[in-house]
Parts: sequence; structure tokens; C-alpha cells
Amino acid sequence: MTVAVVMGSASDLELMRPAVEALTELGIPSEVRILSAHRTPDEALAFARDAASRGITTIIAGAGGAAHLAGVLAAVTPLPVIAVPIAVGSLGGLDALLAMVQMPAGVPVATVAVNGARNAGLLAARILGLSDPEVSDRLQALRTAMATKVRDADAKVRAELGTGG
Ligand code: RP5
Repeated sequence: MTVAVVMGSASDLELMRPAVEALTELGIPSEVRILSAHRTPDEALAFARDAASRGITTIIAGAGGAAHLAGVLAAVTPLPVIAVPIAVGSLGGLDALLAMVQMPAGVPVATVAVNGARNAGLLAARILGLSDPEVSDRLQALRTAMATKVRDADAKVRAELGTGG
């Protein structure tokens, strides 16, 4: 049940790391690759074509600028592909967001927020959780911990500022 985390350049790595960290937190193995739709198209296509038969269950693809990576991978694999637009250059990630989200009908890519790699990892985990109760339980524990944190912050601010409510 390995999730592949693929990115267009080594310069994307720090912004893509939260996807790997989310998967690790949830006990899901990941495989990280640098594959470029433009600079190493043969490797990118070969990777996507073989991914399902190698036991990859979901592909997360991050890229910036003219971000064609996720779409190109989705064109040749039956696996779900999650795109992470990376903010680089003068357009602040809007270029990558539009390139990733505006896929033609028939070739779906699920796009998360600009620099939203953590959510890409969590979405991949939700997909796995549909058939793996352990992953689903771990995700539930994460959601519970998140809610507890917000409730604690709420109680703290109310106690400090005494605004009632
Ligand atoms: C994209 O171009 C990469 O995904 C990266 O976000 C951006 C810049 O790449 P480098 O020039 O830093 O290799 O293909």
C-alpha cells in the first residue's frame, strides 16, 4: 500500500515533505521520486505506467510553474493522482494551480491548495482508509487530536480574556 510522492524538481522537496510526514505519521509507506514532465518525460511516463503493478496505490505529484506533471502521470495510470501546486516564480503558485486543476474531462486529478502537501498526504490516507480499517482509525485519532487542540485553545482564550460565550 505504498503512496508515491513525486515532484518536478529537487527544489520542490521542502514544500513536498509534509506529504511524506503525514503518511509516515499514519504508518503508510511512501516512495519519493524526482520526475519532471518536461525534463525527464520518459522516466516520468515509465514510472506512472508501472506504478500500479508495483503496488503503488495513489500518486501525489507536486510541481510549480507550468505544472504538467500530475496531469501527464494521470494520463497513463489508472491510479488516483493528487496534485500539489508549488508556489515558485513570479505568479506565486497561481500558474501551477490553474495548470493542475483545469484538467480535461476524462483525466481526473484531485488538486489541493497551493503548497498544500500535508492535505495531499491526508487525502491519500483517506483513500487507503476505505479498505484499511487501521489507517481509518489512525486518521480518526488525528482528527480527534486536532479538535482537542482547538477546544483547548478556545478554553484558554476564554479564560484569559473573559469574554464569556
Ligand atoms: C517545476 O519548475 C518544478 O516542479 C519546480 O517547482 C519549478 C522550478 O524547478 P527548478 O528550476 O528549481 O528545477 O518544473
